[in-house]
Amino acid sequence: MAAFKTLDDAELAGKRVLCRVDLNVPMTAGAVSDDTRIRAVAPTIAEIADKGGRVILLAHFGRPKGQPNPDMSLEPVVAAVTEVLGRPVGFTPATIGETAKAAVDAMKDGEIVLLENTRFHAGEEKNDPELVAAIAELGDLYVDDAFSASHRAHASTEGLAHRLPAYAGRAMQKEIESLESALAHPERPVVAVIGGAKVSSKIDVLENLTGKVDALVIGGGMANTFLLAKGVLIGRSLAEPDLVETARRIMAAADKAGCEIVLPVDAVVAVGLEPGIDSQVVDIDAVPDDQMILDIGPKSIATVESWINRARTLVWNGPLGAFEVPPFDAATVAVARHAADRTQTAGLNSVAGGGETVAALHHAGAAERFGSISTAGGAFLEWLEGKALPGVEVLRRDR
Ligand code: 3PG
Repeated sequence: MAAFKTLDDAELAGKRVLCRVDLNVPMTAGAVSDDTRIRAVAPTIAEIADKGGRVILLAHFGRPKGQPNPDMSLEPVVAAVTEVLGRPVGFTPATIGETAKAAVDAMKDGEIVLLENTRFHAGEEKNDPELVAAIAELGDLYVDDAFSASHRAHASTEGLAHRLPAYAGRAMQKEIESLESALAHPERPVVAVIGGAKVSSKIDVLENLTGKVDALVIGGGMANTFLLAKGVLIGRSLAEPDLVETARRIMAAADKAGCEIVLPVDAVVAVGLEPGIDSQVVDIDAVPDDQMILDIGPKSIATVESWINRARTLVWNGPLGAFEVPPFDAATVAVARHAADRTQTAGLNSVAGGGETVAALHHAGAAERFGSISTAGGAFLEWLEGKALPGVEVLRRDR
């Protein structure tokens, strides 16, 4: 039996189903510019409606700090949800109270209504039992399909699961299953590729992974701090000298756990980070004083690819170089394509997540061929840190 109750366990016909989704989506000029999160939850919404449930969507948008704020209304998102679903979606400008109740009372089986931003109420982020009770009044069941908000113990992401019969939606179920397959009970060897600018933002991730994976590839700006810790001269590269001791501690822990730390052996360097600027490849012990490391070099790419060839499972978060400025996207693009190829041809279980990572994989044209890509940013990182996510934990059968 699955560890979580899912839609397979729910009696949906004729029920008012409070369904938490993550509609915190990018907007440009008042319209949704990336509907990935909407597409992720569409199957859950459609399934509940098709089984005769009345779908009452709960979501947040932005950080309105517990106050109504017209700039953060969910109303402009309705058109995109309607388009993705291909069926009508109503909107009501209230989350609780008489207006919300009237909208829900008017619903027929199979209909869908989106309530206003849950964060317009101070009780949302405080997980206030009064707000939980006021929302719970509107529904018979609770379905949580917002993995990307599950690191928040809020009224709509955690509190409701204590008040109503609670189930994981299909997107939540998929995210949990793919992350568990990558870190909880993975096929070995497991390789993690962790990149990005700063060690400081990922100390907990690195520490957790050294105890879980067979090889930890460190790229991006954060590799520079590890190189410093090993006494490598890195010229004018960005680094965090105050975290050199932390880097040494992580390397020692990895050593003890039998986890190989894979650092760049060569680099692409330039005098600054500008598109098309003159750059050269140097061995890692020959970085000129006046230059900065902006990407890993071809020998390093080959090393990372050979680790990926040995791996059965790959976890990826963060780019290997300054990928948003060509030509310093080369390593990220090459390794992403290689991992996508291994996924398709060798059965590699590849799991990626984090906003910048997803953008990098799309840029590489590799996203569609990855095993799974999380819709989460912060929640994915907290999972990699080994933290329990309140919105996930509360859905466990055995809690
Ligand atoms: C996200 O966009 O990552 C989630 O919706 C969570 O948003 P938050 O960081 O404002 O809680």
